[in-house]
Amino acid sequence: MKSSLIETLEGQFSVPLSRMRKIRSFVTKEMDAGLAGRKSSIAMLPAYCDAASGQEQGGYLALDLGGTNFRVMLVELPGSGKPPRVVAEAKYRLTPGQITGSGAALFGVIAGYLRKFLKEHAITAEIALGYTFSFPVRLLGIDEGILMKWTKDFSATGVVGRKVVAIQRQALIRKNVRTVKIVALANDTVGTLQAQAVLDPDCGMGVILGTGFNIAVRVASRRIRKETGTYRGKSMIINMETGNFNKVLPRNSYDQRVDKDSGNVAHQFAEKMIAGKYLPQLVRLLVLDLIRKGQYFDGHVPTVFRDKESFQGWHMDVFEAGSREAVQKLSQELFGRDLAPSERRMMARVCRMVSRRSARIAASLIVGALTRLERRSKQRVVVAVDGSLFEKYPGYHRVLTMAIRELVGPSGKDISLKLTKDGSGIGAAVIAAVVRQGSQN
Ligand code: GLC
Repeated sequence: MKSSLIETLEGQFSVPLSRMRKIRSFVTKEMDAGLAGRKSSIAMLPAYCDAASGQEQGGYLALDLGGTNFRVMLVELPGSGKPPRVVAEAKYRLTPGQITGSGAALFGVIAGYLRKFLKEHAITAEIALGYTFSFPVRLLGIDEGILMKWTKDFSATGVVGRKVVAIQRQALIRKNVRTVKIVALANDTVGTLQAQAVLDPDCGMGVILGTGFNIAVRVASRRIRKETGTYRGKSMIINMETGNFNKVLPRNSYDQRVDKDSGNVAHQFAEKMIAGKYLPQLVRLLVLDLIRKGQYFDGHVPTVFRDKESFQGWHMDVFEAGSREAVQKLSQELFGRDLAPSERRMMARVCRMVSRRSARIAASLIVGALTRLERRSKQRVVVAVDGSLFEKYPGYHRVLTMAIRELVGPSGKDISLKLTKDGSGIGAAVIAAVVRQGSQN
């Protein structure tokens, strides 16, 4: 009886090729609607820059806000297609109170840490800064934009509908930081694309598979029917905001519950099936049902499954693919005992069904996005990917690659997914350089 229940759930979490194809074709439709300024679940937000050429040079600051950690980096771009160098870096943790409190306070905290960074690294001369702000922002140009909504459980007040850079600038002035000039505002997917494009001109797509999920793609300007101000380049990078895609997804009752429990109900449906923030929440709900209906854990709910945050992404890694010793050690920590073989198998199967589904849906969205990619070369497509799910989750890269091949057939071998570590931060520095050098205008 137990195994049949798990099998039913596996059925609910499977994504057959026919469904992946449907998702792909709806992604293309939604992209076109978004590019034309029509109603769409994918916003298709212009990034006001084209892919970097590799000639970008100089020293720039990058500020990277998109999750509970935010980073400040000093990046040196050598130019000539050589890899950027992170000269100095600091990571700061934001508290739940800060990301859900007042916006002015949140930006003040960021300004304070930036001031600390400048002091510690004795940066006194004027310096240009690229700001990676990984939320849906409607840019007004390369260096200003309006926050459309928060995602990933941020909810700081007084920011939605307002100019993000202006608010950050005011906070910098309040902290007496006057040497830093914010010259570019970008999404993390755009930064990731840029960080790879510096090294490889065939890179036309940036993907984040981490706490959140999103794609940026290089699109021919003639396809962009909506307002793009004074931008004159032949192609432009578009922050798709694919996390909000909501057509033909195989959502089930567990997805509905994750949504109901989230800080942004009825938004970000694809993200809630794909991203690292939500996968452990799905696992938790599945395990809770299996405990209630079967004999696992003697019918008692272990403490780690009582609230929605305690069971975490790295726990999934271990249960799905960890060594016997690693599983044993973690089980002791989480449950105070080793698991019975049947419980171990159940945990592994649940984690696998949730992570596989994530990879197969992500693949469908990536392949959908490829249909509108403006390529530099006919032969190959390089997709820059950053994020802990892609980098660290065992087997994720492989399942994603296989699903892409299943969808596109033999030409799939020309698509390469490149891990672009720290892409979001480095890319912001690249965009700052593009702006300062005026290389795209
Ligand atoms: C969320 C944000 C998006 C970001 C993604 C990855 O989907 O809305 O802007 O790119 O997370 O961090």
